[in-house]
Amino acid sequence: MKEQLQALQQEALAALDQADNLKSLQDVRVRILGKKGALTDIMKGMRDLSPEERPIVGALVNQLKDDFETSFSARQQELQQRAIAARLASETLDVTLPGRRRVTGSLHPVTLVADEIVEIFSRLGFSVAEGPEIEQDFYNFEALNIPKDHPARDMQDTFYISEDLVLRTHTSPVQIRTMLKHDPPIRIIAPGTVYRRDSDLTHSPMFHQIEGFLVDHKVTFGDLKGILTHFLNEFFGTGLEVRFRPSFFPFTEPSAEVDIACVICGGSGCRVCGRTGWLEILGCGMIDPAVFDSVNYDPEQYSGFAFGMGLERIAMLKYGVNDLRLFFENDLRFLKQF
Ligand code: DAH
Repeated sequence: MKEQLQALQQEALAALDQADNLKSLQDVRVRILGKKGALTDIMKGMRDLSPEERPIVGALVNQLKDDFETSFSARQQELQQRAIAARLASETLDVTLPGRRRVTGSLHPVTLVADEIVEIFSRLGFSVAEGPEIEQDFYNFEALNIPKDHPARDMQDTFYISEDLVLRTHTSPVQIRTMLKHDPPIRIIAPGTVYRRDSDLTHSPMFHQIEGFLVDHKVTFGDLKGILTHFLNEFFGTGLEVRFRPSFFPFTEPSAEVDIACVICGGSGCRVCGRTGWLEILGCGMIDPAVFDSVNYDPEQYSGFAFGMGLERIAMLKYGVNDLRLFFENDLRFLKQF
């Protein structure tokens, strides 16, 4: 029996050594010490021992159990440590890796241009005003000195909603709305969406304008020139050449169109400027006394200037975009560049 016990001890210790995870370690324990285990088997033979031998073998059995437990705990601890180490290794975080960037949206180029223009005029004391996109004939035309059946209405192909309601064809009606509500002095900058029945490579039925106007005592065409030249230099760059060309608008007298030296070729002539070296950028003029009449301003006391420009056109020139349709297709590859 003594030999059996020694053999079992050796086998048990070897099995503990070989167990390479906590589960198989438990299996070894059951195989040796369990109810149907090897040690229990051997102990059944103790019945046949003499009373003198029994305590000696009993002591050996206890010794074996003690030794087994000691080795078992040691091995168990070792395997536990190993499991923890493996888990730590597999879950290691490299805190020096760069973070993942969050995808953020960006402002539409037309919004960027509108914001920048508003900002420049804000610094000159202008306030922002807005008006409705569905507009009454009175504000869009009549009060701006464009009576019904006047040929000037043909300048703007209008979407009619009813006899009296239109989708506004320009931001100029904001002039009327503001002047009817406030007395001079006023300085207003008014960005907005406008609509015209017009659709080709360079025209969209929906586009954007920004309107500006100033009314006070003794406002002159010189003030208009000074403010617009300052604005264009702030927006497109200092030293930009600017010229005022006589033109016609029903709501201004005199009227002018403003050209800037072509931002593409610098004035030497290219396809964008039609070989003229100049780009038409906005319309402007001194507010017509007929407009003052329709808002009950006294043209003898007050004078003022107004100007309006298309934002898509300005955005195209500023960012070198050569196709108007890009602004409305919502292609992220395009929009993300701004
Ligand atoms: N409303 C004009 C248009 O849509 C632009 C314009 C021209 C506005 C001259 C003005 C102005 O205020 O003075 O074509």
